[in-house]
Amino acid sequence: MVEIKKIAVLTSGGDAPGMNSAIRAVVRKSIFHSLQIYGVYRGYEGLINGEIKEMELGSVADIVHRGGTILRSARCDEMFTKDGQKKAAMQLFNRGIEALIVIGGDGSYRGAQDLAQFGVRVVGIPGTIDNDISGTDYTIGFDTAVNTVVDSVSKLRDTATSHERVFIVEVMGRKCGDIALRSGVAIGAESILIPELPFDLQEISEKLLRGFKRGKNHSIIIAAEGIGDIRDLARKIEEYSGFDTRVTILGHIQRGGAPSAFDSVLGARMGGKAIEVLLEGKSEVMISFIKNDIIDRPLKDAFKPKPPIDRKLYNLANELAI
Ligand code: F6P
Repeated sequence: MVEIKKIAVLTSGGDAPGMNSAIRAVVRKSIFHSLQIYGVYRGYEGLINGEIKEMELGSVADIVHRGGTILRSARCDEMFTKDGQKKAAMQLFNRGIEALIVIGGDGSYRGAQDLAQFGVRVVGIPGTIDNDISGTDYTIGFDTAVNTVVDSVSKLRDTATSHERVFIVEVMGRKCGDIALRSGVAIGAESILIPELPFDLQEISEKLLRGFKRGKNHSIIIAAEGIGDIRDLARKIEEYSGFDTRVTILGHIQRGGAPSAFDSVLGARMGGKAIEVLLEGKSEVMISFIKNDIIDRPLKDAFKPKPPIDRKLYNLANELAI
């Protein structure tokens, strides 16, 4: 065990359901180990401006089931500058804070890596609905976002059936198709369109025709936002297939809501592990979920390209949606 007394925690980038569970675990486990724990508000922007408050057991009461992040989040350009990084490090040193836990995406880890150059001990916890961080099977918030898509599509299905329409549902994920793939399989989508793999509009339209011919009364296509202009795609599908086609962009609704039990537990496990690794004297590490185990690995692993999309799941989805 290494002598460490003061730790800070912040959330950065897009919020994700389950972040509060991770914050709670970080705070409570710190206090359990007689450490002082500080919350940094508004991500790196708040760190640079000194929006830092000591947290107590009660600071994280009644939050485990809430979406969003009680620490707030922000995207901060100043953190890309040497001057900004220096100011951020000084805010920590002036308070005697030795370590910083960053809950966010790999973009947020860049800031952590920069702070490590100034001697701050840093740990990254993967928190983003996109599931686009290398080195971990799952990120906090992904499972909830997928469940939100599933829930929303079940509502769309009602109106799609009444009007015998095709619905193309755009889901988030930046350049990553994980939300689309997972939710597409869960709802039995006709087609799943992801940026990682090519698709053929003619084939998609023919599949729609086959479905309607054998009595289907609606069709749902799930498209990841990373594939490009979805309205243009809808126009083409309508043209090729002749079906009345509508577009629904689910947008930020996927970032909100209470975390699923999976994300709550993942947040708690990752938050707890972050404190353990700091007590072991480690720094510049990220917390990962690999094969149902919570481990730590070098932070730089997060900057590697993400492993390819789950091809087996993608192929299965196609086999099931003949
Ligand atoms: O990274 C999370 C995410 O929700 C992406 O899926 C999406 O592309 C992006 O953030 C939206 O960012 P903003 O909230 O800044 O509009």
